[in-house]
Amino acid sequence: MGLTIGVDIGGTKVLGGVVDSAGDVLVQTRRDTPAQDPGETADRIIEVIRELSAGQQVEAVGIGAAGWVDETRSIVQFAPNLAWRNEPLRDKIQQAVGLPTVVENDGNVAAWAEFRFGAAHDADDSMVLYTVGTGIGGGIILGGRLIRGAHGVAGELGHTMMVPDGHPCGCGRHGCLEQYTSGNALVRFARADARTRPEAAERLLQLAGGDPDAIKGPAVTEAARLGDPVATGAFEQVGHWLGVAFADIVQTLDPQVIVVGGGVIDAGDLLLKPARASYEEQLAQRGRLPVAEVRPALMGNLAGVVGAADLARM
Ligand code: BGC
Ligand code: NA
Ligand code: ZN
Repeated sequence: MGLTIGVDIGGTKVLGGVVDSAGDVLVQTRRDTPAQDPGETADRIIEVIRELSAGQQVEAVGIGAAGWVDETRSIVQFAPNLAWRNEPLRDKIQQAVGLPTVVENDGNVAAWAEFRFGAAHDADDSMVLYTVGTGIGGGIILGGRLIRGAHGVAGELGHTMMVPDGHPCGCGRHGCLEQYTSGNALVRFARADARTRPEAAERLLQLAGGDPDAIKGPAVTEAARLGDPVATGAFEQVGHWLGVAFADIVQTLDPQVIVVGGGVIDAGDLLLKPARASYEEQLAQRGRLPVAEVRPALMGNLAGVVGAADLARM
């Protein structure tokens, strides 16, 4: 198969690209999207595909969506952080653009891109991806194949319970990993700590105009780079829980590599250092057996586009 289109749908944007079989993005385009309107989101996706396919020999479309996609790769059944409820996304798009279309989970497509072309391209068997963004995305590759599960929701790694009776989650449970390791969690930790000890959050509060409730993710990263104790502390908490999750997934799957992606990985070692430290501390096999190496993702914000396009070929 020649060229395919990949579309990645996040909370704030629709990003699309024409991708070749080597995983190279030939052209790309983006639209802002109203996160809470499934109808308008579908319209934006259709616009992106029409723009990209004009004058190109495109053979199929793959869409990465931040929600629980059924095993037929058609319907977004539920999205903890978005408005999709039993959304027949595949049929809507396919009918409008006239190209064979598949819908995949956003964590799964990013995992596939990192496994084929990115941080784990040298792994021939297995990899687990965590994307740390608004929520936590996950993707599992075993035996060289993407694992979707019997009902499409394998790799929903953000909704495993870390803290009994913990913080409420968009999925309806309490104490999910996503509530302790994610962009949202980072901001929640930073705001709470800045409220209780503003004197330690001087730099962070400066960036937020003095208002703890105005603290946003990029400010936490910036302040942490400047050594702000509250901002660094927020990264340490998020990193701690992420490392616990790594130790747990190693117990379950024993993958060759663990890859960390998503917007928050732009913070680099601010996130990875505490994550690696708690991973090592929590590992039951520590010092007894080799374990998965933890690597930052390499595909940046194009992982979803490339992975979705590649999975549209299969
Ligand atoms: C959703 C996943 C999604 C992830 C990242 C989670 O809350 O359950 O389906 O992959 O967020 O967008
Ligand atoms: Na997933
Ligand atoms: Zn949850």
